[in-house]
Amino acid sequence: MDEPNRKLSWAVGKKTVLCVGYSVIDCITIVRRFPRIDEIERGVKGYWQRGGNAANTCTVLRNLGVDVEFFGVLSTSPMFSIMLHDMKVRGIKIDNCPRSNQDPPFSSVIVNKSSGTCTIVNCNNSFPYPSLEDFKKLDLSKYGWIHFRGNRPEITFEMMQAVEAYNATQTEKIVISVDMDGSFKEHWPLVDYCEYAFFYRQLADQQQWKSPRQACNSIDEHLAMRFGINLKRPLVVVLWNLQKVGIMDHNSDYHRPTAYRPKKFVDSLGATEVFIGAFIYAVYVRERSHHIAANFANLMASYKCIKCGFDHIS
Ligand code: FRU
Repeated sequence: MDEPNRKLSWAVGKKTVLCVGYSVIDCITIVRRFPRIDEIERGVKGYWQRGGNAANTCTVLRNLGVDVEFFGVLSTSPMFSIMLHDMKVRGIKIDNCPRSNQDPPFSSVIVNKSSGTCTIVNCNNSFPYPSLEDFKKLDLSKYGWIHFRGNRPEITFEMMQAVEAYNATQTEKIVISVDMDGSFKEHWPLVDYCEYAFFYRQLADQQQWKSPRQACNSIDEHLAMRFGINLKRPLVVVLWNLQKVGIMDHNSDYHRPTAYRPKKFVDSLGATEVFIGAFIYAVYVRERSHHIAANFANLMASYKCIKCGFDHIS
């Protein structure tokens, strides 16, 4: 008899996780040193894959056995059909995604093996984003957790309000989480509706916060002003880099999950999505504490870097 798939059995009985955002084409080149201007550099390796933060988070969750759905606009361009195929064969649901005949968004990515850095240029940035009307067509009773990539904060805010309104009528509530970079001022209102808020370093840099601790303390002060000390507020995760993640919990207690150095460095593209996907998996599916979830997520994000893609995360 076949071994039962333990990984899948953990997720039995759990509602779908929905990830909202973009799905893009990533064209990735791994180099030994960053190319000099006007010079030709020989890459170590090149590959392309389906990318975009929300789409990557779906891949990670799916690899961990979670029932997952992507919600974002999908391009009908023939170039994008391989991406759709990839989602279908992995079992990532895309049935509710609006379509557009515009060329898909894509990113040119340079991963520098010697510095461990990853430089990304996003293109076709005017590609459409799902509207609130599209979102309202979803049957929210199917979802147990909705993770928003806060690409378009004003629309995301309204979508979160729609989930909050739904939650107000239910005993079993949908957990809302968000990850954000970009402008602090524009994204900040999103904290009103989520239980988990992941902040990227770019946002911290913009605020001139110099470390995960400083970022967490400042966010904590902002939260105290916004919510008072007793009201519901999100758990904050500051994703600085692989070695530095800061967490400010609901009681304003700061902690840092264990940092894990990758055994070898090959490719860090999407390591933050691995952190987020693994964190959601540990909290939602495995019902682990935030401390354990963050340690696991950090370990997985570091493990991601030893290979290209996400398929060794399972
Ligand atoms: C990695 C990634 C890529 C995508 C880019 C979007 O974190 O999601 O897959 O091209 O970032 O900015």
